[in-house]
Amino acid sequence: MNVYGGPPEDVWVFFAPGRVNLIGEHTDYNGGLVLPAAISLGIYAAVRFDGGDSITFTSLNEPGSVTVPVRGQASFDPSHGWANYPKGVLKCILEERFDLRGCKVLYWADLPVGAGLSSSAALELVTAYLLLYPLVGDSADRIHLATLCRRAENEFVGVECGIMDQFIVAMGKRDSAILLDCATLDYRYVPVRLGDYQLVIMNTAKKRALGESKYNERRAECERCLEVINRGERAAGRARAPGRYRALAHVPLEEAQRYLNDEVLFKRARHVITENKRTLEAARCLPAGSVRRFGRLMIESHESLRDDYEVTGRELDAIVEESLRFEGCVGARMTGAGFGGCAIALVEKGRVEEFLAPVSRSYRARTGLEPYFYTCSIVDGVRCLEPAPVGGGGIRDDESLDNQGDLPVLRSETQRLAGAGERARGGWGFAPGGLG
Ligand code: GLA
Repeated sequence: MNVYGGPPEDVWVFFAPGRVNLIGEHTDYNGGLVLPAAISLGIYAAVRFDGGDSITFTSLNEPGSVTVPVRGQASFDPSHGWANYPKGVLKCILEERFDLRGCKVLYWADLPVGAGLSSSAALELVTAYLLLYPLVGDSADRIHLATLCRRAENEFVGVECGIMDQFIVAMGKRDSAILLDCATLDYRYVPVRLGDYQLVIMNTAKKRALGESKYNERRAECERCLEVINRGERAAGRARAPGRYRALAHVPLEEAQRYLNDEVLFKRARHVITENKRTLEAARCLPAGSVRRFGRLMIESHESLRDDYEVTGRELDAIVEESLRFEGCVGARMTGAGFGGCAIALVEKGRVEEFLAPVSRSYRARTGLEPYFYTCSIVDGVRCLEPAPVGGGGIRDDESLDNQGDLPVLRSETQRLAGAGERARGGWGFAPGGLG
């Protein structure tokens, strides 16, 4: 209310979760499998639809506001920083000829940004969902929203990400991960049964410098792998043009070995192919409660990302190694794009506090950085937190609004365990073109 004025009953509140990817890293843009879960850390947006002909985006985490016409052509503007993400989403929605309503949007986040927990996808999805909410309510086609937001990120912001992040933020389900086939978008929910263990998110506090260029470099290497393999298959008379394999994740390891003489390319392909298999196996372990086996797969995944795909770096390796020294930790790996950001660990319930102290201490000693730790629950995808009548003025229930101030209450079940808060001080860290 302080930011935009007007009565509280006209305010609608939306939430989009961040995500952890349990396993299946750098497989999405290779047509492979991923196994992400939506988490209770996320991005909130309070909205007032005012019937005007503009949309204003403001963030409590960043200074300045950006206002764009509700029917005009939005174009990328580097000086708009993070606001290019909602602008890109708006542009993609307008291309689909929706008649949107003018509004004022205020965002805030308890999700650490630029930390590999999908802050970009959360920002995109919460924006798409809220802009369309007066028109379609909660019956939006969520897979369509995910592909639209990915298009905004690829084409407007200019980051060549895969579909995983947008898909899980749109489609997440409480207590389940999603096994997603990124070649077909076929998916199934996989109950996450961790028994006596729990997931701890570990933020290395290392910003992903060079993350985007390295990410694009890996993508290009994988495309090259597929080209070389298919060329080999054609030369051997085993395939019709344009090639036998449509995705690197589908190539048998022996075939990759046969055609990829370049050692670096072979290592990239080996990661993608073996990671795909691990992901499928993990999707069998989790519902069965085979936690130790799942932990083993996490460790193998990290090793493959470190040695073959080379996207971990000193900080992620240090935090994973230090976690695994603790005997109550049965698995740990980086999550997301890599090059810094977050890792996850599977730690015995009731021993999490005992785990944090030595890991923080030795991580700090090795890197000079102060790590942050979080536990959180697995939650549903993007949603309106307070049901409001479609086409109506907004939230009717005053209970939904924070009595102590002007902001709706943060209803995150997330618990930050240690480390200084990021949200209060830091900006969102959305460099245009960064991998959130
Ligand atoms: C980032 C991208 C995803 C995916 C992961 C790596 O999070 O946005 O599409 O490629 O990296 O698995």
